[in-house]
Amino acid sequence: MIAGNPLRDDPRLAAIAGISLAYGVVPKTWMATRTRVAVQATVHTPRGLRDLLRLARDNDWPLLMLGEGSNTIFASDEFDGIVVALDKRMFGNAEYIGDNMLRVGAARNLMSLVPFAHRAGLMGLEFCTKIPGQLGGALAGNAGAGELGICDCIDSVIAVTRSGRLIQVGQGEFEYGYRHSELAEAVILEADLRLEPLNEVRAKRAVQDFAARKVNQPYKLPSSGCIFKNPVDPATGESIGAGMLIDQAGLKGYAVNGAAVSEMHANFIVNTGNARGEDFLALISLIQDVVHHKTGIELEIEARIAGGPLTSCVLH
Ligand code: EPU
Repeated sequence: MIAGNPLRDDPRLAAIAGISLAYGVVPKTWMATRTRVAVQATVHTPRGLRDLLRLARDNDWPLLMLGEGSNTIFASDEFDGIVVALDKRMFGNAEYIGDNMLRVGAARNLMSLVPFAHRAGLMGLEFCTKIPGQLGGALAGNAGAGELGICDCIDSVIAVTRSGRLIQVGQGEFEYGYRHSELAEAVILEADLRLEPLNEVRAKRAVQDFAARKVNQPYKLPSSGCIFKNPVDPATGESIGAGMLIDQAGLKGYAVNGAAVSEMHANFIVNTGNARGEDFLALISLIQDVVHHKTGIELEIEARIAGGPLTSCVLH
């Protein structure tokens, strides 16, 4: 549809102050699909975001928050909704506010916070080394490494709810766990992160340790990081590597057109050519089927799928 999409000419959308609009653009994602979106809205003020969320909800317009696109896969070549990005100049700041805390805008690049915290005399974010994306998306999915997640570092968060209410939520006032967080139901604007005083030797060692864990991950080809969450092994009750299960199922290198299971790490799907959203989705379903058939374990998708039957991040 896109070309005739009614959103393009909606005067109420164009009248919102504090946002800027672009039509028919192809936003960048790490998976490098060429999906065209009806409207891309860049938010410059909290009020602009509030008005946009209200209008979208009242009209049942599909709306998707997109940061750097490191964990999002568009399901098809066209997205007939609004893709929303936060203006980095307005929402990308970080500052030390005392009491071992950093105040950070949601559009701030996550891994840049590791050296930033060290310069401020703080540590505790070393596990974010080499995790791509912005703080807002990381908080919405409780991104991390292994059992460590960024939501553990929250003191409080400022966000706008789907109904357009500005809220402040403190640690203990929302639920989160392994790679999920209730914060995903709102749009995060800013967070205060509580860290600990820097111990340079420990911090340096932790950065090296977390960087080392990434050496067997395929960052030379476009990908969205790990596609599946590590499931719990029903036999032992322990977490088990999704990558190991996919590998043992013999699926390394298996491809649907340009979408392929990485030869380096089987929980990564890479774009080896001009893969489209439908290729990724077909491969994801196939992996789930084969692993379930061989082990009885259901793999749950960790990446965000935008549109199509598996959609997980589009708000209506
Ligand atoms: N393994 C295989 N074959 C593979 C991949 C892994 O046999 O193709 C084995 C490894 O040899 C190892 C075990 O599986 O014995 C675990 O592998 P790894 O150390 O790579 O950790 P992971 O559990 O697969 C998790 C996170 C990664 C994170 C790494 C390192 C999840 C789903 N994955 O991977 O996070 O980078 O630990 O901290 O939690 C992400 O979330 O996007 C992500 C990449």
